[in-house]
Amino acid sequence: MAMTSLERAEAAEHAMSQELDRIVVKSVIYTSGERDPRQPLPPQQSQGKLYMMGHDPRLPRMPEKPTLFDFYKLRFGPSAHVLQSARLAQKNGVSEKIVLACLLHDISVMGLIRGDHGYWGAQLVEPYVDEEVSWAIRHHQVLRFFADESYGYKYPDSYIRLFGADYQPEPHIQEAYRRAREHKWYETCRLITVNDLYAFDPNVRVELEEFTDVVGRHFKQPKEGLGFDQSPSAHMWRTMNHPTKYL
Ligand SMILES: [Fe+2]
Ligand SMILES: [Fe+2]
Repeated sequence: MAMTSLERAEAAEHAMSQELDRIVVKSVIYTSGERDPRQPLPPQQSQGKLYMMGHDPRLPRMPEKPTLFDFYKLRFGPSAHVLQSARLAQKNGVSEKIVLACLLHDISVMGLIRGDHGYWGAQLVEPYVDEEVSWAIRHHQVLRFFADESYGYKYPDSYIRLFGADYQPEPHIQEAYRRAREHKWYETCRLITVNDLYAFDPNVRVELEEFTDVVGRHFKQPKEGLGFDQSPSAHMWRTMNHPTKYL
């Protein structure tokens, strides 16, 4: 009997984990919902195998001292959206800091966690960028839900398709919006949303290298490499580098 696609995927995953000489246990957050996190993990057939504690051979190897661009190239999902947003921002003549914010604004969706991605993304970059940049990244996710005609920003049609016409942001998001509205960096953040290209053109290619100078001037790359510099967010970069590490 032919295998269903789920069976095929499971068989492939099983074959893959057999090939690995280390046992991989997925973090609860990867599987919560698909399985009930309160249930004990299925028993592992360890047979003397060791647990994953470093580089996962299924992933491309990162350099010892990874840079921001190494993460874009080796760990993040497709970056066309942020690259095109950054280019649009540049074309609209905004400051370099805002171009950088546009380039970075969705890195949590691309490489870490989707829900509350503005907050996660801001935390990732906070030790390395101007406070205004991380503030704007933190709040862009919130501002996306609220129109501002004076900047030509309307509520995204895509959100109606994605979340339904009657979707209302939760009270804590509404409160975050009210506070952001009064903030001195409101405009910086609003400009991320204005340049946040949702329906980007799949035929336009923007290279990461176009932003080498902007990143060089405004992103303080640690000499030890992202993840190994003892900054408050270094552990988050290490987690993206080694996402299957047991401890
Ligand atoms: Fe976003
Ligand atoms: Fe975006």
